[in-house]
Amino acid sequence: MPIQPQFAPRALEVADLGRIEPHYARVLIRLLAAHALAEQLTAEGYQRVSGTLEDPELRAEAEKNLREEGEHAALIYGLLADLGVDRAHADRAVIVLRRAPSFDAPRYFAQQAAGDLDLLMGSLSLDLTGLLMIGINYRESSYAPHARAADLILEEEAEHDVFGARVLTQAVDRFGIPSVAQALRRWWPMAINFFGPPGTGFTFDCLRFGLKQKDNQELAGLFASIMQRRLTQFGLELPRLSAAYPYTLA
Ligand SMILES: [Fe+2]
Ligand SMILES: [Fe+2]
Repeated sequence: MPIQPQFAPRALEVADLGRIEPHYARVLIRLLAAHALAEQLTAEGYQRVSGTLEDPELRAEAEKNLREEGEHAALIYGLLADLGVDRAHADRAVIVLRRAPSFDAPRYFAQQAAGDLDLLMGSLSLDLTGLLMIGINYRESSYAPHARAADLILEEEAEHDVFGARVLTQAVDRFGIPSVAQALRRWWPMAINFFGPPGTGFTFDCLRFGLKQKDNQELAGLFASIMQRRLTQFGLELPRLSAAYPYTLA
């Protein structure tokens, strides 16, 4: 049975947090810190990869994305500052998460990605996933400042996703189906794990406070169906995964 959220979308401003149970602010801070970290690592990934691209047009677009991801990170760190949490404290709040399987994709993108295929897979794994998390969960957040930030971020994320879809076509043309299929095998488990483990206590709290609308599992399923549709036009299949989170190749 779906959880009935305690607060409606955009019901609360920063000044309201003093009059509700303190656990709301704790959950909110952790959620925002995770969001900020994801934006920050995505920016670092675009930075890293743009230095390895030969195609000037692709490089220009990657540089545009890196600027925008940096702005998204700044926006969310700004929301945390309004709650009295500076960036060092925010990053410390998610220090374990940074090394968790759910952050494999942004961490890999920021630290190891290189070349066109990683740009493509990074965009598919981080921009399309971000688009779903922000468009479905955060836009309807009970914390109005996060919902407004989501409005601002979404437009650019939609462009990043168009870019990602186009790079997929280019990658198939340039590198051929087998290379793309191989890159997909490396990235797909990381991408799907980015939604996080299903049914955790933290997500339950997010759902009951109206900070998220959907469980991680549901968003991950939606992501997989969009990706499968996109791949079908090239005769590609999603790699088979293990049955339980964190997913690995089956
Ligand atoms: Fe972003
Ligand atoms: Fe993006």
